[in-house]
Amino acid sequence: MSTLRVFRLCLFVTFVGGSVVAVGQPQNDLPDGIAADITRKRCLTCHEADLIVQQQLSRPAWEREIDKMMRWGAVVTAEERAPLVDYFSAHFAPTPVTAHVARQSTAAEATYKRACLTCHESDLIEQQHLSRAGWVREVDKMIRWGASVPDTEKEALVDWLTSRYGEL
Ligand code: HEC
Ligand code: HEC
Repeated sequence: MSTLRVFRLCLFVTFVGGSVVAVGQPQNDLPDGIAADITRKRCLTCHEADLIVQQQLSRPAWEREIDKMMRWGAVVTAEERAPLVDYFSAHFAPTPVTAHVARQSTAAEATYKRACLTCHESDLIEQQHLSRAGWVREVDKMIRWGASVPDTEKEALVDWLTSRYGEL
């Protein structure tokens, strides 16, 4: 394996903080999963696992990647394809983006706890099922009534409320 690849993997591990990828995991080790054996049998005949594990692809992109490898000669049966897609999408997904969303969500939750639960309990809020526009109106109304939500936090709070208490 090339030094560059090892270097890239190290960067990746540092970036996601080791929460998803075990630090120190040998590069050619595949994470456990029912499709690990299929991968060894079907994918590692032409190249090593590093080409796979360093990817960060969405589910549709993994489907395209597998189809491309099949056009290039990989033999994957119809029963093997679905577990492979599940396995790759679960382990080699675009983690930094997810981490980013998670951070935003934590920040929005902090705003919520600080600004929304001072006058009433959460049940008043949690029993609502509003569209995004409905949440914008509701938050604006609460701001007029005294809730302290800085402009910089409003969008994220509305997104957070909509994702949890959106329309059914
Ligand atoms: C018949 C040979 C062969 C098989 C089998 C094979 N691949 Fe590949 N794969 C290649 C070649 C050739 C490349 C390009 C190699 C390079 O860039 O060094 C590649 C590259 C890749 C890459 C890097 C991105 C890209 O598209 O260049 C990924 C990811 C990948 N393969 C995934 C898989 C998966 C998943 C499987 C099993 C379903 C698989 N491969 C099976 C030949 C194969
Ligand atoms: C300054 C006090 C105050 C703060 C802070 C506050 N609310 Fe309210 N909220 C109220 C009052 C008063 C009511 C009406 C209470 C009732 O009907 O019992 C209310 C009612 C609600 C309702 C029920 C529907 C409605 O419009 O009556 C929702 C949903 C709601 N608030 C959401 C929020 C959210 C989200 C936040 C944070 C952005 C928030 N509130 C912060 C005072 C506040």
